[in-house]
Amino acid sequence: MLNQKINNFFDQLKLNKLNFLKTKFNLDEKNNIICYRILKYDPTRDERPWVQVFFLNNNEHLPMLLDTLFYIKDNKDPSLSFRRSCREGICGSCAMNINGVNNLACTYKVDEHISYIKSFVNIYPLPHMLIVKDLIINMKHFYNQYKSINPFLIKKYNILSNIGYRNTLNVQILVSRPTIENIQTKKDRKLLDGLYECILCACCSTSCPSYWWSSNKYLGPAVLLQSYRWLIDSRDEDFKNRILFLDDIYKLHRCHTILNCIRCCPKKLSPATAIANIKQIINICSI
Ligand code: SF4
Ligand code: SF4
Ligand code: FES
Repeated sequence: MLNQKINNFFDQLKLNKLNFLKTKFNLDEKNNIICYRILKYDPTRDERPWVQVFFLNNNEHLPMLLDTLFYIKDNKDPSLSFRRSCREGICGSCAMNINGVNNLACTYKVDEHISYIKSFVNIYPLPHMLIVKDLIINMKHFYNQYKSINPFLIKKYNILSNIGYRNTLNVQILVSRPTIENIQTKKDRKLLDGLYECILCACCSTSCPSYWWSSNKYLGPAVLLQSYRWLIDSRDEDFKNRILFLDDIYKLHRCHTILNCIRCCPKKLSPATAIANIKQIINICSI
């Protein structure tokens, strides 16, 4: 409760507080103070999420946001929790909402996004997801949706023996180990550009209003981009089942082309285009 009151106090003062500090300590642009406002929530202790404020000066604040989060964890608040792994924009685990836009903390250059006048960085977990702790969200449902599209190569000629998977229509398929190389022309391989780079960070899905309201049924931009990736892979032989699975009023057609997904993808991919292409394929198939 006290924390909440302190945070409300900071919320109301925001800029004034910073200006006050800058004047009081005679700070110039080289010795800037940056205010980090980070959502904290420990379900075992807190009644509801709250915002903790950290003031860092230039010596403490590091170029990449993830490094600064480590600094805060090591020096100011050891309880601060967040996910990270690669630190290179590859694993997607450090995705969070930074100053209102979903992004990766490890590739987010703080200096490029703030100025001396507006020295705030607001850090929240990805929106509309259950919080496990602080900036860590529960990704189980997202991964289950990903699993539901069978995100791997399916070859019919391998349906012979005892290694199995369940296809998108929930039919058990038995396959053998591949015996020959799955070759692909350069032209066909080129079709996968702009799709295979997806790191499943969920920045796009959690910025999509349709996904916020219907994530129990709508697959969301990230999973649909992945679906399209396997749909157009020239080596895959489960096209029909994949289409039958996707042609659903909720799974696919909840996308209303709002385009938030394109704006926030840290890999500069276009899930909305992939979704539009799936819809076009379905239209052609149903003619
Ligand atoms: S499409 Fe972009 S934002 Fe969406 S999951 Fe893939 S990399 Fe992340
Ligand atoms: S274009 Fe579709 S998937 Fe992308 S944000 Fe809008 S509704 Fe969501
Ligand atoms: S830590 Fe892997 S993408 Fe940021």
